[in-house]
Amino acid sequence: MSIRTVATQPFSDQKPGTSGLRKKVPVFQKPHYLENFVQSIFDSIAAPKGASLVLGGDGRYYNREAIQIILKMAAANGFGEVLVGCGGILSTPAASCVIRKYQTYGGIILSASHNPGGPKEDFGIKYNSSNGGPATETVTEAIFAKSKTISSYRILDAADVPLDQLGETTLGGMKVKVIDPVSDYAELMESLFDFAAIRTLLKGGFKIKFDAMHAVNGPYAKDILVMRLGAPESSLMNAVPLEDFGGGHPDPNLTYAHDLVEIMFGADAPDFGAASDGDGDRNMILGKRFFVTPSDSLALLAANATLVRGYAKGLAGVARSMPTSAAVDRVAKAMNIPCYETPTGWKFFGNLMDADKVTLCGEESFGTGSNHVREKDGLWAVLFWLNIVAARKQSVEEIVRGHWAKFGRNFYSRYDYEGLPTEAANGVMLHLRDSFASLTGKQFGKYTVGSCDDFSYTDPVDGSVSKDQGVRILFSDGSRIIFRLSGTGTEGATLRVYLEAYEVDASHHHLDAQEALKELIQIALRISELQTRTGRDQPTVIT
Ligand code: G1P
Ligand code: ZN
Repeated sequence: MSIRTVATQPFSDQKPGTSGLRKKVPVFQKPHYLENFVQSIFDSIAAPKGASLVLGGDGRYYNREAIQIILKMAAANGFGEVLVGCGGILSTPAASCVIRKYQTYGGIILSASHNPGGPKEDFGIKYNSSNGGPATETVTEAIFAKSKTISSYRILDAADVPLDQLGETTLGGMKVKVIDPVSDYAELMESLFDFAAIRTLLKGGFKIKFDAMHAVNGPYAKDILVMRLGAPESSLMNAVPLEDFGGGHPDPNLTYAHDLVEIMFGADAPDFGAASDGDGDRNMILGKRFFVTPSDSLALLAANATLVRGYAKGLAGVARSMPTSAAVDRVAKAMNIPCYETPTGWKFFGNLMDADKVTLCGEESFGTGSNHVREKDGLWAVLFWLNIVAARKQSVEEIVRGHWAKFGRNFYSRYDYEGLPTEAANGVMLHLRDSFASLTGKQFGKYTVGSCDDFSYTDPVDGSVSKDQGVRILFSDGSRIIFRLSGTGTEGATLRVYLEAYEVDASHHHLDAQEALKELIQIALRISELQTRTGRDQPTVIT
């Protein structure tokens, strides 16, 4: 076995986005493409010789090939040990858990999250640091800088490593430990939640349905919900992971998880429904004929946290991404704990959690999590909810309605316009930025614009500044419209419009969100000139 140094040319498009580098599979299959990026990671993180690394992915198409390449490159770059999930599988939260538990020098996660998989679909790669969380912008920028000047990479000439059996092998001078992808994570869950109470709840006839969307969480759900908590096997759907997610879009929302939604809104619906995404970090929570918005879910977990063993001592603080509704802000205020507003993307929560400033955090994009790992965590959210239901002995709907009655309701919706020509999408953003002065103070029906800005964030821990994180139109009654360009898409541009209106009056809480937000949506379309500038009169997805 010998180490080969391969001459290469830089690619100009290896800038990591909101969550790592995401491209279509054929792009990653181009000669040297993956290798260049991996070498750029290794060069930027400068791991000490003999360091250990975690490696795994969501099992999508190209996962196995990529893992073999990365293993051989890790061996050629002086790593002493790599912990790989059996079959190359690790959900994103499980990878974070394993990095933290075994104190490795971070890990490489292969996933394009909720994007479709398959030979012509998406693939992705990201580096997580030794705290288990996505690398900070400083690190991702260093990786990008390296990728633009790279001239060679190192790889071991060796046969593929067997990945389908637990145990240890060697690759050159490096150990490869094939680990059970589920057990460390499941043990962590058992330490946080009252499994006995949840087991009793499920035994008592409380019916659940979990949709793994043919993605990575299938085996995790089987181990935890069925084996450890006693839910019948029929509680799981789409629990066999497939390389192309069965041709679906593994994104747990009302549009893409429609099979589950039909069951949960149908006759004889179960009491609780949930789904998670491609790499297991997102979640959607449903009650019987009832949808819980991710923003409300975060607020509710915070308000009920002390009912749950792992959080019984109370929360240090909470954080939400800027576009996420302010529902959790009201809970934080009532609990007298700090609430941080960060840019979109989980990487911004890491510093706050490491510095013990926040315990729970979340995003409107179906992501919730806590300081138990440094990623959002889909099954964790499901277990948290089940624990709360077990403790409160109320239905999901009763719990949410009770919450609104106490804190008011933040009506919320997001409109996504996917696959827009980049210029048209940039044009909308530019036009909005140019309109700040003329919009301020302007009245639209019952809404008056209080202020407009482009969100900028100064990290309270390391002082780093992230600018241009989304245009905010803030109304005097607390309602908001936000415009942002996605940083995870792989085709054209995706424009996201986030809408939020706050309602204290409980007699209006029964309204449908689209109905309650009707006026705000019209304002958003009018001030952005979205329809004329993009030629689209309907969003691709409404969540
Ligand atoms: C999207 C979500 C964001 C999330 C990210 C990764 O990013 O909006 O909240 O952290 O996926 O799951 P975006 O495409 O908006 O940049
Ligand atoms: Zn994900």
